[in-house]
Amino acid sequence: MTDHAAYLDAKRALDDRSLNRDVLDRFAAELPPEPEVLEVGAGTATMVERLVDWGVIEGGRWVAVDAHEEALAAGEARIGDAVGNVAVEFRAADAFEFAAEAAGAGRRFDAVVGCAFFDVVDAAPAVDALGEVTPVAYAPITYDGETRFAPPDPDDDAVLDRYHRHMREFRPGGPDGAAALAREATVIAEGPSPWRIEPPYESGERTVLAHLLDTVEEAVGETGYDASDWADGRREALGDGRLRYEAANRDLLVRLE
Ligand SMILES: C[S@@+](CC[C@H](N)C(=O)[O-])C[C@H]1O[C@@H](n2cnc3c(N)ncnc32)[C@H](O)[C@@H]1O
Repeated sequence: MTDHAAYLDAKRALDDRSLNRDVLDRFAAELPPEPEVLEVGAGTATMVERLVDWGVIEGGRWVAVDAHEEALAAGEARIGDAVGNVAVEFRAADAFEFAAEAAGAGRRFDAVVGCAFFDVVDAAPAVDALGEVTPVAYAPITYDGETRFAPPDPDDDAVLDRYHRHMREFRPGGPDGAAALAREATVIAEGPSPWRIEPPYESGERTVLAHLLDTVEEAVGETGYDASDWADGRREALGDGRLRYEAANRDLLVRLE
């Protein structure tokens, strides 16, 4: 399996071009000049750098929380304790336990950010827990139920059905993560943020695709279906520079209270 931190860093440029700028602008308009932001499932903390680079935030404090210690440590090693004038704090923890502790201590945030996060958690408890510490959640790159690989393979439907079944039945969240969040909270703004990778691949895109193929093969295997031939064929297409990939995502800005 490819390394989680390497995958997150590799997908940074893909997220850059996929993020829905209208939803981001609406999020920026919600923030005070020096915001206190809680990022849940922060991974290697690429989002705070992006928002500083893009002039969305210029000061305040960013608390990056992730349960994956190695990914978070990679972010901390890269960033240190600040990006520009934004102080950054790293906390290796379960996001909801962190939020409960913060709520208990009377701590409040201006917003919570969760990029590619709200499809790997159950929406209703997430909205309840995070609503205790912040009024607003920005949820970009939330999976919206559709993945496609090309050129076509006869096993695509069986594999991708099992992949979605794995999301629904074998882990929190699910393939309808964006719809679930929209249902559980009050949508302020939303818009598509599709991932598309086509040859010739740009820097990092082979790493992203290799990781996604490993993820699909492993998940589908857990449901009892052997996707190794499908994955090998896809890896061959990747090696030859023929593999295309598309996933539907949605960016949401929601009110939690
Ligand atoms: C798909 S990754 C996205 C990471 C990062 N936001 C990005 O877009 O690069 C989802 C992250 O959520 C983290 N995660 C999932 N459930 C979590 C939880 N309950 N508490 C903290 N982190 C969690 C995982 O460890 C993983 O790093």
